[in-house]
Amino acid sequence: MIYKFYQQHIFPHLLNQVMQTPSLMDKRRELLLPISGEVLEIGFGTGLNLPFYQQVDTLYALEPNPDIYHLAVPRVHAAPFEVQHIQASAEKLPFADSSLDHIVSTWTLCSIAKLEPALDEIYRVLKSGGTFHLVEHVLHNESTPIQRLQNLLTPIQKRVADGCHLNRNIQRAVKDAELELSECQYFDAAGIPRIGQRMLLARAVKR
Ligand SMILES: C[S@@+](CC[C@H](N)C(=O)[O-])C[C@H]1O[C@@H](n2cnc3c(N)ncnc32)[C@H](O)[C@@H]1O
Repeated sequence: MIYKFYQQHIFPHLLNQVMQTPSLMDKRRELLLPISGEVLEIGFGTGLNLPFYQQVDTLYALEPNPDIYHLAVPRVHAAPFEVQHIQASAEKLPFADSSLDHIVSTWTLCSIAKLEPALDEIYRVLKSGGTFHLVEHVLHNESTPIQRLQNLLTPIQKRVADGCHLNRNIQRAVKDAELELSECQYFDAAGIPRIGQRMLLARAVKR
């Protein structure tokens, strides 16, 4: 009961705050400014990407968690373009095959329960030549103490942060889904604890 209260009434506010860390907002800008037209964003969260879509006509804001989406509503109302909320999960996207030019994920791939089927769905609904744009925290790529800690603490992190895995190799998962990386940049985000600081900003194309 206390856990349910935490998930519904506390965690969404914590998420909304942490995800506004200035270094993360800078990376949102870098990822999203070039994107135009019709866009699907998976794991829309509290709508923090909205100010950075400068050339978008329609945004499909896929967010399964109503308690989190609730905090996005004022931002959605202020958006200067059409935003359609879709309450669904990335593992089963309610879109036709080869129907979208752009799909966005910002710190969502860590939280999806079944990552492989979700990436297969992203591949399915992208048009040929369409792009998956992502920025995510990732597993450290060497067998260092920090990587061991990421593996050790992931079960706890999943409980306190709504299913978030600290130890996903996102680059490998994207490649395994047959998406071809056209941009791939690793960085350590300022203001984030070391265990979740390693990040990947990437674009991957469906050939
Ligand atoms: C760490 S938050 C990131 C939120 C937002 N993308 C941002 O950049 O602030 C992860 C988000 O993924 C959503 N999520 C979790 N499982 C999901 C799934 N299976 N499909 C789509 N979104 C999911 C959560 O509800 C949450 O909004």
